[in-house]
Amino acid sequence: MTTDQPQPAQPSRRPRVAIVFGGRSSEHAVSCATAAGVLRAIDRSKYDIVPIGISRDGQWVLTEDDPSRFELTAGRTPEVESSAAHVVLPLSTRETSLTVLEAGQPPQELGQVDVVFPLLHGPFGEDGTLQGFLEMSDVRYVGSGVLASAAGMDKHYMKVVFAGHGIPVGPYAVITDRAWRSDRAAALASCEGLRYPLFVKPARAGSSMGITKVESPTELEAAVETAREHDPKVLVEEGIAGREIECAVLEGHGTDAPRTSQVGEIAVHDNHAFYDFEAKYLAEADVDLSCPADVPPEISDEVRRLAAAAFESLGCEGLARVDCFYTEDGRVLVNEINTMPGFTPTSMYPRMWAATGLTYPELIDELLELALERRTGLR
Ligand SMILES: Nc1ncnc2c1ncn2[C@@H]1O[C@H](COP(=O)(O)OP(=O)(O)O)[C@@H](O)[C@H]1O
Ligand SMILES: [Mg+2]
Repeated sequence: MTTDQPQPAQPSRRPRVAIVFGGRSSEHAVSCATAAGVLRAIDRSKYDIVPIGISRDGQWVLTEDDPSRFELTAGRTPEVESSAAHVVLPLSTRETSLTVLEAGQPPQELGQVDVVFPLLHGPFGEDGTLQGFLEMSDVRYVGSGVLASAAGMDKHYMKVVFAGHGIPVGPYAVITDRAWRSDRAAALASCEGLRYPLFVKPARAGSSMGITKVESPTELEAAVETAREHDPKVLVEEGIAGREIECAVLEGHGTDAPRTSQVGEIAVHDNHAFYDFEAKYLAEADVDLSCPADVPPEISDEVRRLAAAAFESLGCEGLARVDCFYTEDGRVLVNEINTMPGFTPTSMYPRMWAATGLTYPELIDELLELALERRTGLR
């Protein structure tokens, strides 16, 4: 049954928030770092917290409510450890309670969760799979739904949707698993029209994992193999010479249009070929993040316009970060959208909102409010 009436969650007690993090993707540690930031900043006078980790092998476990356990530093990679106590989310619209299962123990009911905050990056978290699972039991969650999450995760379909909405993207080719396994030479030849340098990427990854900047055709095959370690589907893009300008988008309340932040710039020092994993998380001194970016006002307006258009083209909800290139010849192209962008207090998404007047704790609150306001079912 569907209804046109919004059905906001109206718990009489403090809303109970399940912070879900870790996960099966290669961005497990990044997700833990995000969870550390959120656990530290969330307003505990307003929300009850249930921290749930997903281990690398996909087990859901109740974790300590201790942010310091999950911080990412140059010396330590945080991780959710599997444990004997598994958490089971409700699997039907009739069940509303979380259950903890431990061998030899009776199942323990943990009570109802009003909203899930899926702080997961990459496949099995940011890609619609978890979202579909929550939809099955009418559990509200922060961020985009199934389709927007899935299309936003896949750098191929993302571009197809953007192009279909007149949002400019750079030239690219796709190498599917079947194409690669059936005729590798033909797959490589399909990239011949692209101007070097190329960027070879797993279609569904993030944090620059598996990405290679390729300067000549002799390096292309190895780069495809590297990307295939993360995803059997690979994207080969023409390198865009330009600056990296980003914009944070936040869903509007009710029928309001999405809100866009001041735009930010990422400038990576020359010792990195591009904005790679190291530059993103471990060598922060090699990156200059600025917000507002020092670009002409018409460029800032254009990035904001495209960011909102990209958000709407996929039917995003909650939040997204839209990353653009401002090319040397003055154009703005969209590189990608992230439906669950890096979300530590020093990540670009919260920083851009801070520069626009919304602090990190306020942003967390705003996202939870939006999720609690929204109706379940088809929207
Ligand atoms: N087509 C491209 N032209 C120039 N630089 C690129 C291109 N694609 C990616 N890069 C560089 O690689 C980084 C990571 O690529 P991106 O597509 O954003 O993947 P991820 O989802 O891992 O962040 C970008 O921030 C940029 O520095
Ligand atoms: Mg990126």
